Amino acid sequence: MNKSRGVSRRNFLKLAGMNALAIYTSGQHGYLLEDWTRMQRQLQINEPDVEVSLDAVVTEAQILPGRSTTVWSYRGTVLQGEASVLQSLPGSYLGPTFRIRQGQHVRVHFNNQLPEPSIVHWHGLRLPEEMDAHPRFAVSSGETYTYDFQVLNRAGTYWYHPHPDMLTGPQVYNGLAGLFIMTDDEEAAAGLPEGEYDIPLVIQDRTFDADNQFVYVPQGMMAETMGFLGDSILVNGQPDAALSVETRAYRLRFLNGSNFRIYKLGWDDSTPLTVMGTDGGLLETPVQREYVTLAPGERVELWADFSQYPVGTELLLQSLPFSGVELMDMGGMDHGGMDMTASATTLPHGGEFTILRVNVARESTERLQRPAQLSSIERYQLADAINRDNPRQFVLSRQMPVWTINGRSFEMDEVAEDEIVRLNTLEVWAFDNVLEGDDQMAHPMHIHGVQFQIVERQVAPDTREGWETVRTGYVDEGWKDTLLIMPGERVKLLLKFEDFAGTFVYHCHNLEHEDMGMMRNYRIEP
Ligand code: C2O
Ligand code: CU
Repeated sequence: MNKSRGVSRRNFLKLAGMNALAIYTSGQHGYLLEDWTRMQRQLQINEPDVEVSLDAVVTEAQILPGRSTTVWSYRGTVLQGEASVLQSLPGSYLGPTFRIRQGQHVRVHFNNQLPEPSIVHWHGLRLPEEMDAHPRFAVSSGETYTYDFQVLNRAGTYWYHPHPDMLTGPQVYNGLAGLFIMTDDEEAAAGLPEGEYDIPLVIQDRTFDADNQFVYVPQGMMAETMGFLGDSILVNGQPDAALSVETRAYRLRFLNGSNFRIYKLGWDDSTPLTVMGTDGGLLETPVQREYVTLAPGERVELWADFSQYPVGTELLLQSLPFSGVELMDMGGMDHGGMDMTASATTLPHGGEFTILRVNVARESTERLQRPAQLSSIERYQLADAINRDNPRQFVLSRQMPVWTINGRSFEMDEVAEDEIVRLNTLEVWAFDNVLEGDDQMAHPMHIHGVQFQIVERQVAPDTREGWETVRTGYVDEGWKDTLLIMPGERVKLLLKFEDFAGTFVYHCHNLEHEDMGMMRNYRIEP
């Protein structure tokens, strides 16, 4: 059993004021529903470690010179706990960054002050269904939804964003998103850069009109069915982002918070990237990549050591060229294999551009060494999966105009026979991005309620060429909750439903696809 997980469960029970030993022994293979109901009752009685009010509001942000931009934004206030549990990104429309220790009991009062329904999803966190923002929990304008949960997850870079049915794309685009950073004892023991040397970087793309206002889906159906691409790259809500660093090691945490755009992160001087974390936290050991492919919803953490650069050096973090993410058969027209972009952007999907300028500005005497061991990860084995010879199939396809999973699109209350799994089982799932004519797109798939492990990727010969431009940038070594599946690609992953029974969604994190119904329920039965 994974060590850190055991610790988290023990803390959970301690905080919930229960007989830890008695439940812990039965809890090794997941909570029974009755256990959970009792814990929930206890949590409501007990004082939380952290209590926050989180308002979603319409406001203004200074993004470009001149007129400010109307944005939708999360505003947080700490009601209980240290003030440092919420940290704001200076000058950004992004919501406050939560800083939470594993095992803490968190209560969040979400106040919807938007003109339409919304609900907050804690992307990557292992929570019961009432806390996970299934779209059916969306609250109307003026209403409040109270979250009350204990965070079981290991240290890592998680995030939160709206999740109402059919409105997620525009709400995130308008500015609603924030980071949820977890720490734990295992991470503290690794001795990583902290404080001002631990830097979150949220990458998003936006298009502005002449009055500096966000433009979303101006071309009608085209962008709606394919995905929206912006003309400008924003990092932490700022254009032309620059980072001034010292000659020492940094922890850089990247979130691709874009609706549709995929990035291929690489340094302009071809220095390899040292990856130390993925969606679900730290890897066992750091790994080197020439570049990292980061799809919407995914996170990656880098160990970035600037000590070999003289003061005055400017480095560029770029998105490097790639192809094959959108293969469109435009009503029979032959595009000679050329990728079609979803919207009239000046920044083509797969083009080369700068994301972040890094200025090596000051000397530092700190010579923090990169740890050889970062964490321990319990490795799932395919042989242990209950369906090892018969993976649960998810075919990603299209039925004009919507994108589908196994030929179906989202229905609020519908769970198909083949979307029901059992608590405490390890399963192998296979996502298959099938080819139908030339009409194909990459889909970043996200599964709520679990962190999973990727065990195998294959690609059809017809689409290998594009795949080769991104695939060595996959970081499949760590815990994942979102994964990119390229056209013609088939990916197998192992996932264990060990936390809570309930109904959760899985969907494409291309938010336009999600809103168009490329989302389904799955149910974990006790
Ligand atoms: Cu980040 Cu269901 O989404
Ligand atoms: Cu998709």
